[in-house]
Amino acid sequence: MTAAPATGPTREPAGDSAGEPAGESAKGYTARFRIWRGDTGGGGLADFEVEVNEGEVVLDIIHRLQATQAPDLAVRWNCKAGKCGSCSAEVNGRPRLMCMTRMSVFSPDEVVTVTPLRAFPVIRDLVTDVGFNYTKAREVPAFVPPPGLAPGEYRMAQEDVNRSQEFRKCIECFLCQDTCHVVRDHEENKAAFAGPRFLMRVAELDMHPLDAAGESGLDRSRSAQDDHGLGYCNITKCCTEVCPEHIRITDNALIPLKERAADRTYDPLVWLGSKIRRRGE
Ligand code: SF4
Ligand code: SF4
Ligand code: FES
Repeated sequence: MTAAPATGPTREPAGDSAGEPAGESAKGYTARFRIWRGDTGGGGLADFEVEVNEGEVVLDIIHRLQATQAPDLAVRWNCKAGKCGSCSAEVNGRPRLMCMTRMSVFSPDEVVTVTPLRAFPVIRDLVTDVGFNYTKAREVPAFVPPPGLAPGEYRMAQEDVNRSQEFRKCIECFLCQDTCHVVRDHEENKAAFAGPRFLMRVAELDMHPLDAAGESGLDRSRSAQDDHGLGYCNITKCCTEVCPEHIRITDNALIPLKERAADRTYDPLVWLGSKIRRRGE
């Protein structure tokens, strides 16, 4: 399950995605790592002592362990640049990209614990089965092109372009899906809840000025409520806090989507408008 070495240029990590580096230099010391090892049948934490050099990130240390002490340690990664979204794991209990987590955010005497994403089933070691997310992605109906316009004739206000572009920075690392308490400790909610990443996708399409899904009878904000579990979200913002792309998932996608769903349901003018539009179709 170990991925092939990255072939493209690597990007210097911008530091801890959750805040500023602690400022400790990670120059030439031996760190204590505790890593979850196991598979679908079970497992546990294994302790390692491993060299750390200045400027390294957690993924560098995992690679050093593979090279020196644990050649069969499974880890998924590709870009080592914070762009492929595949090296997601939990470092000291917090969902992070391993390639973007500098060792300098930890003090040299701290034990660094690396475990697989908790919300998804383990395949082996640090590799989880994230198929839940692909299932949820398929459940969101795609953009419906506006009738009567050919590609290239679409025109949108810059404000609408900017909104979509923020959401499209998503690298599908699924850290937000992993941290959301609705599914993190409640496997039984998975069937009904799409999770922040895919509710954000519904919000993007619902607010897209050219999406013509409404003309074929799909009310995306109501569907968010009825089909994708928007009501489970109680806007704790944990998803926003772990997003390595700093997408304001809660403020810019989930809250507006909730407002639009509430307007659809409770605002008599919005309700009447939708009825009149339907009748005219
Ligand atoms: S804001 Fe909503 S979607 Fe995000 S973590 Fe909290 S409950 Fe989950
Ligand atoms: S929204 Fe952010 S945290 Fe969630 S999958 Fe996309 S990049 Fe990752
Ligand atoms: S290896 Fe691609 S995001 Fe970390």
